[in-house]
Amino acid sequence: MRIYRMESYQEVSRRAANIIAAQITLKPDTVLGLATGSTPVGTYRQLIELNKQGDLDFSCVKTVNLDEYCGVPADHEQSYRYFMNHNLFNHINIDPANTNVPDGMAKDLQSECERYDKLISDFNGIDLQVLGIGHNGHIGFNEPDDCFEKTTHVVELKQSTIDANSRFFASVDNVPKRALTMGIQTIMAARKILLIASGADKRKILERALFGPITPQVPASVLQMHNDLTVVCCVD
Ligand code: F6R
Repeated sequence: MRIYRMESYQEVSRRAANIIAAQITLKPDTVLGLATGSTPVGTYRQLIELNKQGDLDFSCVKTVNLDEYCGVPADHEQSYRYFMNHNLFNHINIDPANTNVPDGMAKDLQSECERYDKLISDFNGIDLQVLGIGHNGHIGFNEPDDCFEKTTHVVELKQSTIDANSRFFASVDNVPKRALTMGIQTIMAARKILLIASGADKRKILERALFGPITPQVPASVLQMHNDLTVVCCVD
């Protein structure tokens, strides 16, 4: 595990973007696992800048997002597809057909989960997976539980996650109660993982995840077992 402790959110974003850019430069057809949430927004801005300056080419990159709400259409501004289009994809030279987000509107959610896992395995897995961390230690939408869920699955969101996400919705009642998420095994199978965290409110959970016992009650703690984990954080 490599930990970069940075001085500010801006520095976190620059370092994380440089790590992603290095990956894409070395392997232009990188399969990039992506996260939504407030943490990676600055990283995505930096990637857009690098792309604009001509220093980073996304034309052969494929992306797979971690998760999506159920029942929120792609063009709804709180869907994760909308988030990705607006915070990254629409501003870089990526082929939209190469960007993938689980379909939370699928009629058969179970089949959608199976399709998503197959897609990732047809890509020969994920080269670099970007992760944020929730206050309860979730990664993607893998919430604290009695066991680690392996593959892409439907989750009932915990009240703490619904509350945390309510800032993005008109009211807490509008926050979807279910989501699709890659499982822990899929995430752990990524060849490299980049975990980014920012804000003093993330300090405690980051410490528990990186140095506490490995337990499904803190899903991110499983990352201690990964052999190529990079953490970029500013949590002081
Ligand atoms: C979203 C995701 C989540 C977030 C986490 C932290 O795709 O993977 O696990 O990374 O909820 O969210 P922020 O960055 O908003 O604190």
